[in-house]
Amino acid sequence: MSSISIIGLGGMARAIATRAVQSGNTVEVIGRDAAKAGALAAELGGSATAGAFGATPAGDIVVCAVPYASAARVLAQFGDALADKIVIDISNTFNADATGVLTPAGTSGAEEIAKAVPAGAHVVKAFNTVFGHVLAQGGRLDVFIAGDDADAKKRVSTFIESLGLRPLDAGDLAAARWLEAVGPLLIGLANHGAGFNISLGVTIAD
Ligand SMILES: NC(=O)c1ccc[n+]([C@@H]2O[C@H](COP(=O)([O-])OP(=O)(O)OC[C@H]3O[C@@H](n4cnc5c(N)ncnc54)[C@H](OP(=O)(O)O)[C@@H]3O)[C@@H](O)[C@H]2O)c1
Repeated sequence: MSSISIIGLGGMARAIATRAVQSGNTVEVIGRDAAKAGALAAELGGSATAGAFGATPAGDIVVCAVPYASAARVLAQFGDALADKIVIDISNTFNADATGVLTPAGTSGAEEIAKAVPAGAHVVKAFNTVFGHVLAQGGRLDVFIAGDDADAKKRVSTFIESLGLRPLDAGDLAAARWLEAVGPLLIGLANHGAGFNISLGVTIAD
């Protein structure tokens, strides 16, 4: 089992934390509003605790569950407290009408976020292709990951497996560019007949 900290207290934080607590992981939730973090920890029950914003997270794996526009700034506020941590970037980077991504060609949100963490921390992209409300419903969904450090990806995969989900490795951190492009694809599918109760998966043919 993993020890994880989640920065952010919104829908995705709650969905990941709920599954993480239920599957026996040690979970810390961290928000800019300490009272709100305490309330979420109490609601989650089990192993859940509330951590202090900006202090060293208790978890070895830190899930950054804030909007992309704030993510680098939020992580920078933790500074060296994130040294040696695995940081999971779950952000979607699409624009307001989901017709494209906010990042320029040749980079990704994950690669930009990686510039905000100290040397020794490893950023892994994961979970951005899964809707929070679908995650909360349960089921063995596919979770695509991307990252440069093999051991970090292995540990993130173990965590994802523990949630009853299937991790699928898309490549190094630059592959986050393609995972982030899945955001507009999912919104397009949802808006053109499939509805929002969907999840993207891979069929591996025999
Ligand atoms: N929604 C989805 O289905 C989905 C799916 C895949 C990926 N994602 C990604 O997951 C991330 C979180 O999405 P969400 O749907 O959970 O959003 P959300 O419900 O709006 O929650 C966002 C959280 O981020 C916190 N936050 C925002 N700006 C902050 C700042 N400057 N400093 C500290 N905390 C800040 C908010 O704090 P307060 O509680 O204090 O307001 C809130 O707890 C986003 O990057 C999103 O792209 C979302």
